[in-house]
Amino acid sequence: MGSVSLKIGDGTARFRRTSVYSSAVNLLMLFSVVTTNLFALYAFSSHSQSSSHPLHHSNNISLVSQHLSLILREIDSSQRKLAQMEKQILGYESIDLSRPNIVPELKLFLHRHQLPLGKDSRTGITEMVSAVGHSCERSPDLLSQYMSYKVFDRCPDDWSLGQKLILRGCEPLPRRRCLAKTIGSDCVGCLDLGTEKDRFVKVKGKNDFLVDDVLGLANGKIRIGFDVSGGSGTFAARMAERNVTVITNALNNGGPFSEFIAARGVFPLFLSLDHRFPFHDNVFDLVHGSSGLDVEGKPEKMEFLMFDLDRVLKPGGLFWLDNFYCASDVKKKELTRLIERFGYKKLKWVIGEKADGQVNLSAVLQKPVRV
Ligand SMILES: *[C@@H]1O[C@H](CO)[C@@H](O)[C@H](O)[C@H]1NC(C)=O
Ligand SMILES: *[C@@H]1O[C@H](CO)[C@@H](O)[C@H](O)[C@H]1NC(C)=O
Ligand SMILES: *[C@@H]1O[C@H](CO)[C@@H](O)[C@H](O)[C@H]1NC(C)=O
Repeated sequence: MGSVSLKIGDGTARFRRTSVYSSAVNLLMLFSVVTTNLFALYAFSSHSQSSSHPLHHSNNISLVSQHLSLILREIDSSQRKLAQMEKQILGYESIDLSRPNIVPELKLFLHRHQLPLGKDSRTGITEMVSAVGHSCERSPDLLSQYMSYKVFDRCPDDWSLGQKLILRGCEPLPRRRCLAKTIGSDCVGCLDLGTEKDRFVKVKGKNDFLVDDVLGLANGKIRIGFDVSGGSGTFAARMAERNVTVITNALNNGGPFSEFIAARGVFPLFLSLDHRFPFHDNVFDLVHGSSGLDVEGKPEKMEFLMFDLDRVLKPGGLFWLDNFYCASDVKKKELTRLIERFGYKKLKWVIGEKADGQVNLSAVLQKPVRV
């Protein structure tokens, strides 16, 4: 039955306007399904009554098969109408909820919920819709596996399954009603910080800038920042020592990064870079990012990401591109062209030593005021 286009979620419940009209349509459809089925039944039974003579009946195979195919067509069209109705009632069009292996918890999650007091006069909405990543539809089996759990019980030990879904674009995840387990004690020391200790405070190469130098470029006006693909949160930890709040975005790829970042007293944001950042426009004084910005090495992915980073950065705010690895001259040119299209002022721009055509680019760029 139909394909479904899930509302692309932004991590929170979403709202949708409806009207009394849609429930009237549903009733009408229910009526038409019932009547067509009754008609099919009647066609079948009236024929068996009128052709009670066994000889006549068995001789006219073509008549019987005609009736049979009519009935089959009716059943088929009723099923299609029912699926259509289910879609309308649930409000989702891209996840095929009529598949046999879709678990009830997923259907319940996706069900629209009417506001108890009717239409909200301020927003004009009448119901709440849960958001789930539209790409979840591409992994229905993983999704059903993920949504098979006991409500109010401990969540299954399957965080890697959730992350697998996220990396397939299934974000936000629909699981809500189980209790996260307590994992061992906190995670300080569970990742090796050996090589991280001196980052941002000691220079190793000409591509490394010091946090104090970069903060100095903004005359002390930096209060809040965002670190993209920030690994273990070292950047945020160094900035916290300077009274700057930094949110670190990281997935748990290859280690419990979120827990580790949180254990250092800084804010972990568990979100893939395909997601639009859950921040309003113009909120950060600083955005810091490195080669992790180069999502899958695809220029168009990086462009989408750059636009979103630009969006959350304040006018006059700094974009610190830190040791962005360019595997070739073409890559470097591509990146330079992309950056220049945003019209940022280059406060620092350092291209590292070239080795086999590979080079690192570091820059501090200032977002212009646009009116
Ligand atoms: C079978 O039914 C068809 C359609 O009603 C009719 O045209 C045909 O003459 C019948 N054949 C026999 C052998 O009864
Ligand atoms: C951070 O803030 C505290 C409390 O306001 C202040 O005592 C300290 O000097 C500040 N540190 C820096 C590096 O600005
Ligand atoms: C280039 O940057 C990567 C991280 O993006 C880093 O691992 C590497 O050491 C850097 N290379 C040089 C020569 O600075």
